[in-house]
Amino acid sequence: MQRLYRKRVILGVGGGIAAYKSAELVRRLRDQGADVRVVMTKGGREFITPLTLQALSGNPVHLDLLDPAAEAAMGHIELARWADLVLIAPATADLMARLVQGVADDLLTTLVLATDAPVAVAPAMNQAMWGDAATQANAIALQKRGIRLFGPAAGSQACGDVGMGRMLEAEELAQRAADCFESRALDGVRMLITAGPTQENIDPVRYITNHSSGKMGFALAEAAAEAGAQVTLVTGPVHLPTPDRVNRIDVVSARDMLAACEASMPCDVLIASAAVADYRPEVIAPHKLKKDPTSGDGLLLQLVRNPDILATLAQRPDRPFSVGFAAETENLIEYAARKLQSKNLDLIVANDVANPNIGFNSEDNACSVIDRELHETRFPQTSKAKIARQLIDFIRERLTRHQD
Ligand code: PMT
Repeated sequence: MQRLYRKRVILGVGGGIAAYKSAELVRRLRDQGADVRVVMTKGGREFITPLTLQALSGNPVHLDLLDPAAEAAMGHIELARWADLVLIAPATADLMARLVQGVADDLLTTLVLATDAPVAVAPAMNQAMWGDAATQANAIALQKRGIRLFGPAAGSQACGDVGMGRMLEAEELAQRAADCFESRALDGVRMLITAGPTQENIDPVRYITNHSSGKMGFALAEAAAEAGAQVTLVTGPVHLPTPDRVNRIDVVSARDMLAACEASMPCDVLIASAAVADYRPEVIAPHKLKKDPTSGDGLLLQLVRNPDILATLAQRPDRPFSVGFAAETENLIEYAARKLQSKNLDLIVANDVANPNIGFNSEDNACSVIDRELHETRFPQTSKAKIARQLIDFIRERLTRHQD
């Protein structure tokens, strides 16, 4: 089995003698199905040539932050967004210290700051340097920030010393990279997620809809599947690829969405991030509506209420742990709390959609989660991918408490 199938890995190569193992690492990552792009520091290039890594990865090697040609092909921010994982191997003592400081004076350190993907470092250095208090403090600081440390291992070193500081072997690093995508915290949990807008037809060519892009719901589906959940994603019309290992059901209207959700029950957790139209035209005209010369400039459209999908599923005897979203432009927390109570939810994610940088069709989001005790937990602005992982983690923790 290819454990990194279609995963995008940036391999950062620092300036240490262990860089010779990076060539083998590229091969092992590709054996596992990963798409690998290599970023080299200036020091890394002293130990192994970009040409070698280009030939092995099948992609151009990225070297400089201020290279107009490279930026035109794939800019550093684009590269940071492209990655599912940034693995730095070898990571020297100097590189680790620079990461701790948040230095961004070359392409690799800049990428680490800019990416939302998990970051892992494989330290490689002389045993005394590894044992030094400064390096040890840096290792702890990186881990506290969520950066994973792969190794180092003990053994004989290129300098003749014996001790801790050897970079892990390529095969083991590739396996550890694959493990990053398989935290099985939600193993066996059946999760139903709604996403995107609904479209309510007026006639064969017109409909009522909203600005939801589906990005938030798709990011949640991806994060849940990565955490091991069995995910069914019921989505309105959007232009997004299906995340790996997610069962996607495409629907158009609110009534279709309800039917697809009911057919996907039972489930353990429901997350309703879809922006469902509250109303639909009472009658769908069989032919394109024509301008009526007798009715002046106006057109009266009679609307009727759509079923509330979330409330319907949260009232069932086999109700799942139910998480709603509230998109509000004012009185965010108050209105969200009311929806939590009126729809019988366990949690509600309050989304301030008056701010164009978060909410509908934006790359980022920021939100507060409110629980049944009306306690509020804030999630500051970050990418939807990152906030989705944080929300899935939060939901998992509350689900566990709920089941105890
Ligand atoms: O898709 P994106 O562009 O990434 O944008 C994300 C988002 C802003 C759409 C998302 O984060 C969000 O806030 N979704 C909820 C939008 C919404 O319609 O909220 P609401 O306050 O109208 O509905 C409250 C809850 O009831 C929601 O969980 C909604 O899915 C659900 N609902 C509403 C009406 C209805 N008929 N059926 C429902 O299930």
